[in-house]
Amino acid sequence: MAEHYKITFEPMGVQAKAPAGTSIYEAAGIINIPLRADCGGKGLCGKCRVIVDPPHNLSALTESELGIFSPDEIKRSYRLACQAQIQGDVTITIPEQMADSREARGKTGLRGKYPFDPMVERIGLQKDELPEPKDGILADGASWVAERATRVAGHEVFIEDLGALRQLSRPEAYEGEITLVNHLKRGITAVIPGNKSRSLGLAVDVGTTTLAAYLCDFHTGEVIASSASVNPQRRYGEDVISRIAMTDNREDGLAILQQIVVEGINYLLGRCVEEVGASAEDIDEVTLVGNTTMEQIFIGFHPHGLGVWPYLPVLSSPRDLRAEEVGLNLNPGTNVYLFPVISGFVGGDTVGAILAEKPFLRDEMCLIVDIGTNGELVLGNRDGLWATSCATGPALEGAQISCGMRAVSGAIHKVELDSRTGGPTWSVLGDDENIPPVGICGSGLIDAIAVMRKMGVLLPNGRLKEGMPGVICDENGVGREYVLVP
Ligand code: FES
Repeated sequence: MAEHYKITFEPMGVQAKAPAGTSIYEAAGIINIPLRADCGGKGLCGKCRVIVDPPHNLSALTESELGIFSPDEIKRSYRLACQAQIQGDVTITIPEQMADSREARGKTGLRGKYPFDPMVERIGLQKDELPEPKDGILADGASWVAERATRVAGHEVFIEDLGALRQLSRPEAYEGEITLVNHLKRGITAVIPGNKSRSLGLAVDVGTTTLAAYLCDFHTGEVIASSASVNPQRRYGEDVISRIAMTDNREDGLAILQQIVVEGINYLLGRCVEEVGASAEDIDEVTLVGNTTMEQIFIGFHPHGLGVWPYLPVLSSPRDLRAEEVGLNLNPGTNVYLFPVISGFVGGDTVGAILAEKPFLRDEMCLIVDIGTNGELVLGNRDGLWATSCATGPALEGAQISCGMRAVSGAIHKVELDSRTGGPTWSVLGDDENIPPVGICGSGLIDAIAVMRKMGVLLPNGRLKEGMPGVICDENGVGREYVLVP
């Protein structure tokens, strides 16, 4: 067996063991330490930088690293987590602005009652309504149960789902009262021993950056629990294009992305039911929305077509799936409703927003704006709706900006024009007012562009004006960089 080395991550003080050749990024993943990886580990973005000790216990600096780090940073033992490979015991220090967070709090504030009309119902059958096995053998028990259920429910009930039939085939299914979960389109999806009237629904939002789950009581319409976390696919890139590239570049890419997003949803599902003292068995239906790429990966469709013109999804209609076939830890036959998508870059999450806001019932024009990692806009009223999308999150969090960073301590978040000097002034996030700037976040970037336009540094066509203070030109005299903080 290959020798395993000890990797200590600071400031958390936690340790992982990994064989030689494991990247720092992979080692962090073993113990669930989230790191930024905006370019999906290609050594291009420089956002996964860490400080290592001792440096000689890692592989040699790669060309990407030599291009990204200054001589001073190399001297201070900076490495890219996606490039440096373990070759001995090592301590890795993660600078605050490079750490990612598994928690995503902004999406869990939803509570209250909502109008509801579930597609599922629970039907209880008493023991005396169940067939009696003769000599341990039951002839066509499923038809018998369906007939009794039809009588109790007052409408036709049928059993075709394999998972439900398997549950019904077990001898204990006839030992006492049972509860049937009936989906109005798919028939019985689960057979649960005992009288279990609790009926819950789970709504899942698979975002490029964040996963969120909301547990709803189907008897009251109340959202009783919610949970959110970072989408674990993020370690393979910040945006949908990186995820599509991952499925194109690695044979196991799609399987990995699908598996980890399902694990992420199972994690949230577990947290939701735990919060209210319920069990996964109580969940009778799941609805799932996401942008088109996220939905396709969840269902195991290769998203290649979404990355090349004309950017078409494999399927745009809704789908009813079984929990078992997508790997969710629920009754095997539990229905998972996947929202329809509008186009390659306007997905089921936008359909959900349209259904919630109902602009199609209004006379006045409405604009729905969903700003996430992708941004979607829907404009219209009862006469028609128009939808489109654009990049937002990484575009504003510094993915392609050499000094770009999230809005954490040390980020320039505000830039203003100083009327006295005619030059820019800036403000830095952090508790200490003397904290030095280490990068610039989205709001700072927008401010900086506005100020650069006012100063005449940035021309209307987006070029930097040569000869202006702060503009650095290349060997051909073309303005390439603007120095905001000298
Ligand atoms: S450089 Fe390592 S993830 Fe981009």
